[in-house]
Amino acid sequence: MVAYVADVGQREDFEAVKKKALATGASKVYVLDLKRELVEDYVFEAMKANAIYEGRYLLGTALARPLIAKKHVEIAEKEGTNVLAHGCTGKGNDQVRFELTWMRFMPHVKIVSPWKDKEWLAQFKGRSDMIKYAGEQGIPISATLKKPYSIDENLVHMSYESGILEDPACEPDEGMFKTTVSPMKAPDSETKISIEFDQGVPVKVVNASEGGEITGSLEIFQYLNKLGGENGVGRIDIVENRHVGIKSRGVYETPGGTILFKAHQDLESITLDKEVMHLKELLSPMIAKLIYNGMWYSPEMEFLMAAIEKSQENVSGEVGMSLYKGNAAITGRSSPNSLYGQAISSMDEEGGYNQEDAKGFINITGLRMKLAGLKEARTHDGGIKHEAVAKKVQAK
Ligand code: ARG
Repeated sequence: MVAYVADVGQREDFEAVKKKALATGASKVYVLDLKRELVEDYVFEAMKANAIYEGRYLLGTALARPLIAKKHVEIAEKEGTNVLAHGCTGKGNDQVRFELTWMRFMPHVKIVSPWKDKEWLAQFKGRSDMIKYAGEQGIPISATLKKPYSIDENLVHMSYESGILEDPACEPDEGMFKTTVSPMKAPDSETKISIEFDQGVPVKVVNASEGGEITGSLEIFQYLNKLGGENGVGRIDIVENRHVGIKSRGVYETPGGTILFKAHQDLESITLDKEVMHLKELLSPMIAKLIYNGMWYSPEMEFLMAAIEKSQENVSGEVGMSLYKGNAAITGRSSPNSLYGQAISSMDEEGGYNQEDAKGFINITGLRMKLAGLKEARTHDGGIKHEAVAKKVQAK
């Protein structure tokens, strides 16, 4: 048995993980650092698409899974096997994300998923049984029976589920949160930053409050995590719909992602054509759903992302933001590709916009409204009302 652990930015002692793997039966352990790839090839791509699941979830877990799974296949090929295993239960999304990605890159894969097998289920009905077993066997784990949150941590987010959170009305205690301070404990002064984008990709962050300039994909993301965390940005508490149909209560901390998604979307407001933007807004929830459902490496995802890529050609420029007590507020934006024509948008000047044209524009747009109104009048009063009005006008 060959073990594999992906470093996707979770704060973890990988030496201890290695030891644990060897002590519990592995003959070899792979530890792969996937942090930069996660940021560049998954998080930034989702951000370009403004992919947010059910309007709130930034997909931190869902984005890491296809990367972890793809690398898993590479290891299997190196080791000359087609048998891949995971420890997900049959109730969640992650089983789907891992297995679909394996199938995509290793069509002849044989999947071992013990927690979906009869004998295993008879012994371990849920997390509590497993926590008890680990205790009896002296296997170190971070979950305890008192604090049995299921945590998924990576550089994008912290996600907390199960345990006391299973009651969707129950407020989690402050001690649970690991990367953000409570907005109530955040500093009393704002942190002002500006983020520079090149074709939809963040390339520089300037801290206007404290000074300092950060470049590099991973470095930027980690820096925004730090600033966001200090200012209590990016906490959400939601009930989401899992792929398998179960409703699931989850609490998330996504400080850097929250800041970046907001900044990027704002820059699109001056750099995207109106109709392109509106079409893109239709695609965003579709893409989010594909990511959530484990379809990152699907034909339809490839198809949609080609359009997203095209849309980002002009999304370059700078966005100013103020981080303050849980908020990441936009303070301004600028772009060399801006479509914002100050003269035309201004209320004070004519600026090449002939207001007389608006009469014809509305008359023609309104034709259908008139037809609908006439039809309604005909069916309700045989057109009496309209005839009466018409007569009055003629008399004048
Ligand atoms: N519900 C989230 C998702 O499906 C997170 C799942 C993993 N989180 C966890 N605490 N086990 O993407």
